[in-house]
Amino acid sequence: MKPTLKLGMVGAGFVANFHARALTQVRGVEIAGITAKAKAEELAKMVKANGLGDGVVYANVAEMAKHVDAIAIFTPNFTRLEIVEEIADAVKKGAALKGLICEKPLARNMKEARRLIALVNEAKLKTAYFENQIFMKPIRTQLQQLAPQQKTMGPLVLARSAEEHGGPHEGWFWDPTRQGGGVLLDMGCHSIAVGWYCLTPLGKPINFLQPITISADCSLLKWGQKPWREKLLQKMGVDYSKTPAEDFVTGMVTFKNPETGQIVKAQFTDSWMFEKQGLRLYMDGMGPGYAFEVNTLNSSLQVFIGDVAAEAVADAETALEKATASRGLLAVQHNEADLYGYTDENEDAAAAFLAGRDGFLPLSYGLEITKLCMAGYMAAERKKTIDLTDPAVQKELETYVPLIQQGRGAEVLYGK
Ligand SMILES: NC(=O)c1ccc[n+]([C@@H]2O[C@H](COP(=O)([O-])OP(=O)(O)OC[C@H]3O[C@@H](n4cnc5c(N)ncnc54)[C@H](O)[C@@H]3O)[C@@H](O)[C@H]2O)c1
Repeated sequence: MKPTLKLGMVGAGFVANFHARALTQVRGVEIAGITAKAKAEELAKMVKANGLGDGVVYANVAEMAKHVDAIAIFTPNFTRLEIVEEIADAVKKGAALKGLICEKPLARNMKEARRLIALVNEAKLKTAYFENQIFMKPIRTQLQQLAPQQKTMGPLVLARSAEEHGGPHEGWFWDPTRQGGGVLLDMGCHSIAVGWYCLTPLGKPINFLQPITISADCSLLKWGQKPWREKLLQKMGVDYSKTPAEDFVTGMVTFKNPETGQIVKAQFTDSWMFEKQGLRLYMDGMGPGYAFEVNTLNSSLQVFIGDVAAEAVADAETALEKATASRGLLAVQHNEADLYGYTDENEDAAAAFLAGRDGFLPLSYGLEITKLCMAGYMAAERKKTIDLTDPAVQKELETYVPLIQQGRGAEVLYGK
C-alpha cells in the first residue's frame, strides 16, 4: 500500500477548506491535524465527514508538530514569519517533521522572504511553495499537446495571464500593511508565475528564463471611489481614503533565454474590480505558428435562474469562487479544486515529501516571485521600467518595501 503523509494545517479559513476539498481527490495524504485562531472545529468536522483523516484540533503549532509529518501554512500573509518561527522551534525541540508547505505569496517583501527561508533551511525541512496555477490541468495539457510544435517551431514567445474577481473575502486582504499590498501581491504573484512557467522551454528548470526587466501600472479604479470606499469601510473595516491599495495592475516581465539570447515576454493583468460572474483565470500564449488559450469562465455547465426562482439560491459560491450573481445565466464549475490546480499541487508535495525531496516549486522559487512582485511595485511607484540585471537594483530590492505596503498608498494611487 502507498505510504501516507500525515498533514497538519495551520489556518482553517477559505484556502484551507479549498485544500481539504482538493484532498478528497488525492491519495496518500491524511489531514491529521488542524490548528487555527478560528474555524478549526468546522474544518475538522468536514475532514472527518469526508474520511480525510483524524483532523485532530490542536491548541497551537508546537502541539500539532509532534503528531504530523508535514505542516501547511494557510494563514494570512502577516502571520507567515511567526508561524515559521514556531515550526522551526518545534523542530529544534524534536518534532520529526519532513516538510513545510507555504501558500502564496511567500512573504510581503524580500526581507521577510529571506528570513523565512533561513529558518526553514536551519530546520532542514523539505519545502513546497503552493502556486496552484502552475499545476492547472489546462496549463499542463496545453504544454503536453503543443510539445511537438514547441520542438519543431521553438518555444512560446508571449504569454498573457490574468486573475480577476470582485475583491477578497476578508478584511486583512484589503489592508495593504497586513496583506503586503493590493492585487499585485495577492494575485499578480499567480499571473507572473504562470506566465514565466508557460514561456519556459520544455525540459528546462522553472527558473531557466532570466527575468531582465519589469514594468507595471498599479491603480485604484473602483474601490477608491466614495460609495465603494464606504462599503469597504463598513464591510471590511479598512479605510481606503487613508490606506488604499491597488485594485488593478497590469505589467510586463521580459525574460531572456540564457542559451539562445532570445527575448520573450509575459504580460500580467490582475484585478479586484472584475464585474463578471465570479473568478476568472485567463491565460494565453503565442509560439511561432501555434497558440493556446484558457478561460475558466467557459464551463461546459451553465445554469439559468430566473427572478422568480432566485430567492431559493442559498449560496452563489457553490457555483463559482467569488461568485457575484445568483440569477440569470450562470457559469458553474463542478470541480474548482481540480481546475485551479489544488489537487495536483497537493499530490506533488505529498509525493515529494514522502520521497525526501522538495516539491516541484520549493520556497526558493516563491522568493523569486516575491522579488518580481516587489520590482513590479517599484516600477509602478517610479513610473519606469526596472532593470533586473542591474546589481544595484537587485541590492535595493532586498530591503525595498513598497509605499502601498507601508500604508502610504494615497501618495501613489490618488491624484495622479
Ligand atoms: N492559492 C490561492 O489561490 C489562494 C486563495 C486564497 C488564499 N490564498 C492564501 O492563503 C492564505 C490564507 O488565506 P485565506 O483566504 O484562507 O484566509 P482566511 O482569512 O479565510 O483564513 C485564515 C485562517 O487562518 C487563521 N489564523 C489567522 N491568524 C492565525 C495565527 N496567527 N495562527 C493560527 N491561525 C491563524 C484564521 O483563524 C483562519 O482560520 C493567504 O496567504 C492567502 O494569500 C491562496
